[in-house]
Amino acid sequence: MKKVLALVSLILCAAALHAQNAPQVDSALKQLPSAVKCVCGPYLQNVTTDGFTVMWVSDIDALGWVELAPDDGTHFYHEDRPKYYDMTGNGINPLTRIHTVRITGLQPGTRYRYRIMMKGLRAFNGERDILFTKPYGADVYRSKPPVVTTVREEYDKLHFAVVNDIHEHDKELRELFKDARGQYDFVVFNGDMTSVINREMHIAESYLKSAAELFANETPLYVTRGNHEYRGLDAIRWLSWYQFPGGRTYYTFQYGQFFFIALDSGEDKPDSDIEYQGMLSTGQHLREEAEWLRQVTASDAFKNAKVRIVFSHIPPRQKGWLGDQQVCDLFVPVLNEAGIDLMICAHEHRYSYCPVGTSNADFPVVVNKNVELMTVDADSREISLRMTDPSGKETHKLSFPVRR
Ligand SMILES: [Fe+2]
Repeated sequence: MKKVLALVSLILCAAALHAQNAPQVDSALKQLPSAVKCVCGPYLQNVTTDGFTVMWVSDIDALGWVELAPDDGTHFYHEDRPKYYDMTGNGINPLTRIHTVRITGLQPGTRYRYRIMMKGLRAFNGERDILFTKPYGADVYRSKPPVVTTVREEYDKLHFAVVNDIHEHDKELRELFKDARGQYDFVVFNGDMTSVINREMHIAESYLKSAAELFANETPLYVTRGNHEYRGLDAIRWLSWYQFPGGRTYYTFQYGQFFFIALDSGEDKPDSDIEYQGMLSTGQHLREEAEWLRQVTASDAFKNAKVRIVFSHIPPRQKGWLGDQQVCDLFVPVLNEAGIDLMICAHEHRYSYCPVGTSNADFPVVVNKNVELMTVDADSREISLRMTDPSGKETHKLSFPVRR
């Protein structure tokens, strides 16, 4: 953005030097963007009993906000709707392409409509004056605004979907989720959605734009970090595309009696491997995560939950690569002691079921194949999994009793 601002300042300064020649100013302004548009999203993050986060991406730097309305049958233009701004700037409304607006103070299990709004950065004179584009507002005149339902206090059952290792196969992702709208309580992308992240818009173009269009503007999306999300010059900004509770790459979320842990399982090879060129310190990162996991499993929320499911991109394998071994050494002992019902993994690009006793995990582990849809039905007695390929053909089906 600094380069853009510098260029714009240069244009305006040049124009100012020739202030007596107004047509030159007009000519300079005509080269600047006059409008801003949304190029990815909106998509929902971190939906809780009392709030949710809306994220989207604009084509140029912009100041963004969200208008909120109850789902009460009134037209969106019925009255002035409350406005929520991007607070990631700690009180300064950010001029950014990736927008993150958190809405709080809501009621549990309640439907809300929302509308994303923006004004793009057109020019900045280097002092205080900012020139904005004409405002953008998502269409609520001809189209229905998206609806989000906050999490209820209680759930008897859950129905959610998991995919992993899509590796930029956006066409197949669209097949897997073509009928997803309104079908799931939430969706989990369990790592390696991309192969390498070298450009800012790669995540949007590879899968997030499709996810938002097909379901994620109304269905909560949770994402775990796979080993490939460590790769590429822009991988360091992976977290800026999401808003996880706690602001780290690992987190928990809860739907009533169902408690979920989303792990960051790190890279698959040692940090010293030539492939990483000295760019990684995952060992320390995962050790800090293991300490966090101990605190999570000691919490009342975890202990009081009836169903506990863990997502980890890399599965525990005692004789596998270092990444597999780290999951065995750092996370499995904590989870064994705490007691969980199921770990859902990815990474190996083939399906496998690892019953208790086949690794150091004393809980079942299921590895979902790449580019296959796992749907999960869970209640307080049983967790049932069903896997289908992009054509919709069922490939595996199995279920587990809840252990408490
Ligand atoms: Fe992987």
